[in-house]
Amino acid sequence: MEKCTFRTIEVKGDALVMLDQTLLPLEEKYIEAYTVEDVYDCIKRLAVRGATAIGVAGGYGMWLAAKEVLQGLSDDKPLSPEELYVVSIALDERAAYLNSSRPTAVNLSYAIGRVMDEYRRLEESLSSDKEGIARQYVTASDIINTIFDAADRIRIEDDECCMSKGEYGLTLLKPGMRILTHCNAGGLATTGFGGAFAPIYMGQERGYGFKVYCDETRPLLQGARLSSWELSKMGVDTTVICDNMAATLMSQGMIDCVIVGCDRMAANGDGANKIGTLGLAVLAKEYGIPFYMNVPTSTLDMNTKTGADIVIEQRAPEEVTELWYEKRMVPEGVKVFNPAFDVTDHSLITAVITEKGVLYPPYEESIRAVMEGDR
Ligand code: MRU
Repeated sequence: MEKCTFRTIEVKGDALVMLDQTLLPLEEKYIEAYTVEDVYDCIKRLAVRGATAIGVAGGYGMWLAAKEVLQGLSDDKPLSPEELYVVSIALDERAAYLNSSRPTAVNLSYAIGRVMDEYRRLEESLSSDKEGIARQYVTASDIINTIFDAADRIRIEDDECCMSKGEYGLTLLKPGMRILTHCNAGGLATTGFGGAFAPIYMGQERGYGFKVYCDETRPLLQGARLSSWELSKMGVDTTVICDNMAATLMSQGMIDCVIVGCDRMAANGDGANKIGTLGLAVLAKEYGIPFYMNVPTSTLDMNTKTGADIVIEQRAPEEVTELWYEKRMVPEGVKVFNPAFDVTDHSLITAVITEKGVLYPPYEESIRAVMEGDR
């Protein structure tokens, strides 16, 4: 199947190249990141966004960090224990820094954690010969290559995961369905085909003729600017609505199902996603419309028991008061509340689409089973 025509994140030579999503749909411009600070900045200001995309960016961000930390050391000269100690501390510091760029999507800490685990394995292989693979030494290139390979694997898995979620998600859909979506959980939010959009793209290719409604998604307009951009580019029948129109469409029988992404799902199935998702889930229940969350297993967080434990990112008031207006549209001095995500209770979610299959309630059991590899 044809891939998206854009690349959200790509490595080109020494640079991590990311599509600047703050400029879409007006400009398709790519940013070159060379340092961990560049990647932090891109994640923070949402030039790269969407749970798995920021995970992949975080992984490669650690590759850039490793290159910086090891700069000046010869590529293939063994590192002394003292040098290795300094490198370890510097990498840990940069990992914590990068991880602090956005708090809600678990994929960021998941990816940084995986990359750092690979680094630790390399480090430990110097002292341990448990599996008969003890190394005598490590070099700067060993470390850089190990971190790069780990980051690259996360990107490849994200791509494969999208395809698999697409197939499973499509089993829930029928030709001609009218689908409502929120924020952007498409190709732009991943490095592949998209999470929530993968079933839509697969159905599109197989002649399902879906009609997709995109919530504009205040305040950053991921639906109006990004989802409509990529869906229409892929030839999907796309209609943008304001967030406050969803109830009207549902009440008039114009929506057959809701599909959204997820930034962190707790072990009990409560899922954090873009602010406004909860409202849609409540409405969908009222009108008897299936509500599907698209959640790769990398977004399932077994260390978070319930949605109440999920940290919700608060963003700048200016995003609400003036970002898209010629002039400020809220009187000076008025307070603004701008949480970037909300948590949808598991009881409102009809099914969870993962790359390992579709999960149904009780989620505590189905999530545990999928994470323990029993399905
Ligand atoms: O603030 P954003 O634009 O990063 O929020 C993104 C979302 O809420 C997506 O729905 C979510 O990340 C899932 S897509 C992989």
